[in-house]
Amino acid sequence: MSNYLVCVSEKISAPIEKLKAIIESKRYIAESLDHQVLAFLGMFVLKNAFRPETIARYAASYFEHLGGPGLEKTPFHVTEVKIKHENPLHDILAEPELRSIAGNFFGGNVGADFIRVVKKDKKNFLSVFLHQDTCYQIGSFQRYSLFIPLTHCHYANGGLVLYPGTHNYGYLGDAGEISNVLPAGYPKVETNTRPGDVLIMHSGTWHESPENGELTDRVYLEVHIQDINEPTTKFVIGGQRQTEWLLHLTENELFVNSRTQRIKRLYDEVDKLKGAAV
Ligand SMILES: [Fe+2]
Repeated sequence: MSNYLVCVSEKISAPIEKLKAIIESKRYIAESLDHQVLAFLGMFVLKNAFRPETIARYAASYFEHLGGPGLEKTPFHVTEVKIKHENPLHDILAEPELRSIAGNFFGGNVGADFIRVVKKDKKNFLSVFLHQDTCYQIGSFQRYSLFIPLTHCHYANGGLVLYPGTHNYGYLGDAGEISNVLPAGYPKVETNTRPGDVLIMHSGTWHESPENGELTDRVYLEVHIQDINEPTTKFVIGGQRQTEWLLHLTENELFVNSRTQRIKRLYDEVDKLKGAAV
């Protein structure tokens, strides 16, 4: 048979046995980063990457400032809390431990396009559907979220559940909830991270999170890292920016008629018609 002829009867497949073997070996959980494992799984858990006192400081700051002007929950978003520049949580970008973790990426030339908190607690406890982040972001495919737990984050309080290796499918062509399409037996990882650990996730990796049944605080500080020369870099973590390409426009400034904008207009129209009908 010709090497060029790809004859596939299935619609989706994956090296499930290989994935399972690496998951079972726990090689994705270690104190130093294994680049090969990260490249294959699109995820890694770095243990004890921050000193406990560093994270205790940020956790205290989170609980002190939550709801204040620099640290407000995004309306209509299940988990997001935006961090303003002046909020002390922003200082994580300058922490030597964060810089040392980021130094593992992009030859040390690392930037970030955003930093935020994603939290669940007594007030915000809902589950998050299966999705990949890439389609909600601007820029290239090779980027990562560093999820820095400020509290114990595990399945019972809505911790992240990842489907390792799914970043290999690439950008899926649209945004939203992904169907239950992975082949039977595809492994998933219910992450269990504690203050000091960092969950590294490639932005293309499919993930979800369950409801916070425990109603305890499940708080990740998320730093989204990328090559420093990406046009959307807003914060320098390591290295020197050399490009002249810059793009700091929001989606609404970039587009005049995107799918999201059309849907929003449609809902506004529906609300208006409902109002007129009452
Ligand atoms: Fe996500």
